[in-house]
Amino acid sequence: MNKRGEFSSSIGFIMAAAGSAIGLGNIWGFPSQTAKNGGAAFVLVYLILAFIIAYPALMAELIIGRHANSNPVGAFQKIKGGKFFIPAGYLGLLVAGLILSFYAIVAGWMIAYIFEPVFSSLGMEALASWSKSNEISRNLIFTTIFYVLTILIISGGVQKGIEKWSTRLMPALLLIIVSLSIYVMTLDGATEGLRAYLLPDFTRVFEPALLVSAMGQAFFSLSLGVGTMLVYGSYISPKENLSRLGIYVTLADVFIAFLAGLMIIPAIYVAAANGAEIFDEAGNLIEGGTIVFQAIPQLFTSMGIMGMPLSIIFFLLMSIAALTSSISMLEVPVSFAVDNLDKNRNIATWVIGAGFWLISVIIILNFDRLFDFIIDFTTKFSQPLLGLIFCIFIGWVMNRNEILKELEKGFPDARYSMFFKIWRFFVKVITPLLILGVFIHSLV
Ligand code: TRP
Repeated sequence: MNKRGEFSSSIGFIMAAAGSAIGLGNIWGFPSQTAKNGGAAFVLVYLILAFIIAYPALMAELIIGRHANSNPVGAFQKIKGGKFFIPAGYLGLLVAGLILSFYAIVAGWMIAYIFEPVFSSLGMEALASWSKSNEISRNLIFTTIFYVLTILIISGGVQKGIEKWSTRLMPALLLIIVSLSIYVMTLDGATEGLRAYLLPDFTRVFEPALLVSAMGQAFFSLSLGVGTMLVYGSYISPKENLSRLGIYVTLADVFIAFLAGLMIIPAIYVAAANGAEIFDEAGNLIEGGTIVFQAIPQLFTSMGIMGMPLSIIFFLLMSIAALTSSISMLEVPVSFAVDNLDKNRNIATWVIGAGFWLISVIIILNFDRLFDFIIDFTTKFSQPLLGLIFCIFIGWVMNRNEILKELEKGFPDARYSMFFKIWRFFVKVITPLLILGVFIHSLV
C-alpha cells in the first residue's frame, strides 16, 4: 500500500484548498457575472450564498474526506451506509476529469496571451496573431503545455507537489491582483466602474436569474461536488479544527473574488473610456468571455510602453490561478488510483492526465459541438447533483456520533458548539433544498 500524503501544516492546507477554489471562476467568472447581474446587488447575494450554501457543503466534503482518509469512492466504501453511494464517488472522479478537460483549454488561452505580447515585441507578427487566433494548432499547443505543468506538479504528491506550489503561487497571485487594481484606479473611467461594483441596485437582489447565477458561482468557485475538497480534506492532519479551516478557505475564496472584481470591473470601464466596445446597443455588457479577451488586451495596448509587461503579468496571474485549480481536479482520480488500485503516483498521474488530455483534444477538434456541452453537463448538472448527494449522505446517512468524533479531533467542544447545531441543520435541510433549486432550474 502506498503511504497517503498529508499537508504539513494548516497553512499548507489553506493555501492548497484556497488555490483550488481560486481560479478562472473567481478572477474572470465572478467579475463578469457581477457586471452582468446588477453589479453590487450580485456581490451581496453571492456573499450570502457562499456562507449558507457553499460553506456547509464544503464542510460536508472535508469531514467525509478526513474521516475516511480516502478519495470519494474509497470514502463511500469505508463509511457505514455508504455502499449505495459508491457510484456517485465514481461519477465524481469522472466529472473532476471532465472539468479539467475544458478548464485546460481555457487555461491554454491564458498562456497564449502571455506569449502574444512577447512575440509581437520581437517583431514576430505572424506568431503573435496566431497566439490570439482560435486556430486548432494554437489551442492544441497551449492546452498541452498546461497539461504538462499540471501533471508535473501532481506527480510530486501532496507536500512536494500540491503544497509547495500552492504556498508559493498564492501570495504571488494576491500581490499581483492588489497592485493591478491599485494601478487601474488611477485611470480615466475607473470611478464609474467602481460605482457599478459597489453601489447596489437593491431592486435586483431577488431576481431569480441573479440568485441562480450567484448560487452556481459559489458552488463552482469553492470546487464543490466532484470530491476535490473531500480529497484535500483527507490530507488534513487530525489535529486541525475542520470548521475553522473551512471558514478560512471560504473567506479566502470570497476575498479574492471581491478583489478580482475591484480590478476587473473598473478595468472594463477604463477600456470603455478608451473606446473599446464593452456595451451592446441596449447598454448591456457584452458576454463575459469577450470582455476579458477584447477589453483587457485593449486596455493594456492603450497604456503604451507599460502595457506589454502588465499584460504579461495579468495573463500570468490567470494562468497561475488556473494551475492551482487544475491540480486539484487531477488529484481526485489520481488519489483513487493510488489508494484503491495501489498504483504508483507518478505513473498514475501521467496515464490519467494523458487520458483527460485526449478528451481535451477531442473537444478542441469538435469545439462547437462539445465545448459548451461539456461545461453544461459538468457544472450545471453533475456538480449540483453530487453536492446534493454529499449533503444527503452526511445529513441523513452518516452516523451523527461518527461526524462528531471526527470534528472533535481538532475541536474538542464541537458537540456543544453553535457551529455544529447550525451547520447540521443547514446540511440536512436548507443546503439540499437550495442545491435542488439550482439543479431543477438548470434542467428547465
Ligand atoms: N474553483 C475553481 C475556480 O473557481 C475551479 C475548480 C477547481 C473546480 N477544482 C474544481 C470546479 C472542482 C469544480 C470542481 O476556477
